[in-house]
Amino acid sequence: MLYIGVDLGTSACKFLLVDEQGTVLNTISKEYPIYFPQPGWSEQAPQDWWTACTEGVPQLLQGFDSNSVKGIGIGGQMHGLVALDETDMVLRPAILWNDGRTAKQVTYLNETVGRAVLSDCTANIAFAGFTAPKLLWMKENEPELFAKINKIMLPKDYLLYCLTGVHATDYSDASGMLLLDVEHKCWSQKMLEICGIEQAQLPALFESYEKVGNLIPSVAEQLGLSQEVVVCAGAGDNAAAAVGTGTVGDGHCNISLGTSGTIFISAKGFGVDSTNGLHAFAHADGAWHLMGCMLSAASCNKWWQDDIIGTKDYKGEEAKISLDKLGKNHVYFLPYLMGERSPINDTNARAAFIGMTMDSTRADMTQAMLEGVAFAIRDSFEVAKTLGIDIARSNICGGGSKSAIWKTILANVLGIPLDTVKTAEGPGYGAAMLAMVACGVFATVQEASDALVKVVDTLQPNPEISALYDTRYKQFKQIYPACKNLFPNLL
Ligand code: XUL
Repeated sequence: MLYIGVDLGTSACKFLLVDEQGTVLNTISKEYPIYFPQPGWSEQAPQDWWTACTEGVPQLLQGFDSNSVKGIGIGGQMHGLVALDETDMVLRPAILWNDGRTAKQVTYLNETVGRAVLSDCTANIAFAGFTAPKLLWMKENEPELFAKINKIMLPKDYLLYCLTGVHATDYSDASGMLLLDVEHKCWSQKMLEICGIEQAQLPALFESYEKVGNLIPSVAEQLGLSQEVVVCAGAGDNAAAAVGTGTVGDGHCNISLGTSGTIFISAKGFGVDSTNGLHAFAHADGAWHLMGCMLSAASCNKWWQDDIIGTKDYKGEEAKISLDKLGKNHVYFLPYLMGERSPINDTNARAAFIGMTMDSTRADMTQAMLEGVAFAIRDSFEVAKTLGIDIARSNICGGGSKSAIWKTILANVLGIPLDTVKTAEGPGYGAAMLAMVACGVFATVQEASDALVKVVDTLQPNPEISALYDTRYKQFKQIYPACKNLFPNLL
């Protein structure tokens, strides 16, 4: 039997065809545009995601027996606000996870409503990318559209709806809305009141590995699949990626170097970071996790290489970085191209190169950019340490993890071994595993992970280079506080 895992990403939607042994038989990727209508804003058309599906799935199935497909799971970019009217038409472009327009609403939520109340209701505080501040933004700036909202959903939930006709979401993704009582896994009435919405406007809640429905008959025909195909609730992309790398159970860590950079720590029981620096969310295995998310990770590399130095040869560019120079670069990069979420929570933060001298080279700048992302991930790693969480090693996945030098830099900046699993496809693979659980191939997500996920490579840090990076990290740490008050004046 076969399963389709979908990774609804920010730059593209990736489709994986996977068999019950966990072998990936085929992959297809469909890109779509992202719109930045104003500095710090970030939007996408939900219809583009659906077009990617209707084109991608039939292509994925070419040459395979489509009747063998039993289940579909989706891991999706989190937090995006998708608003539908009473005929289920999309009311406006989705406002994405890395959109920074809600500074005012975030201040209102954190300062006026108060962090303690938010944390009590949802286990989290407000960050610009979360869904609740976006609802408040719409209410204030687009009142006519806000009044027409019949359903509020997250990006992957829009695909769930197109596939099954059911308005559904899962706990891991719902956790990032700031509307869910994460501990008790139900909508927070108080948060709904604060945002001026009713529970009927929200999707039904499921565990990630539960069945939401079967395919709508006309959709099944369009995709070339049987109507019996089971669609499971799926997960936010980070929880799905964690499943895909076997980061389930207690105290395991996964780092994703995707468009965003995340550090994800699985936990058996519910727990809140008392500083609220890390997000306390539900996990796709039925338990919980803590997570730090930086907004621009692989997107810094894409921006630097594609747009600034104008190359598509990422490997060639990175090959110019000499291994001797690791830990010795005096050029620094603040990676805040879209402001920053964890742990500094500052929509006004901006990117910067600093420390260049006449002998600084293009390779030094590329290295600084890769290091800047690694240092920013260490920021969240340090928050986890202050909570007494000992991260002795981590899995790594995402597009950026395909760069050997970036992985080496990260392992040394964090001073821990980084494990790569056989299928480092992240969210799409995890989503296919969730579909297998929904179809009864495995009884639990843990069982699926034990059976299907294998570590194939471990990158050990080098103690000397790590020590050099410790010093560099302390220097990096001084740059943002020195620039913080300057950034708002540069807008
Ligand atoms: C997580 C987050 C990002 C997106 C990227 O909180 O905002 O990782 O899910 O797709």
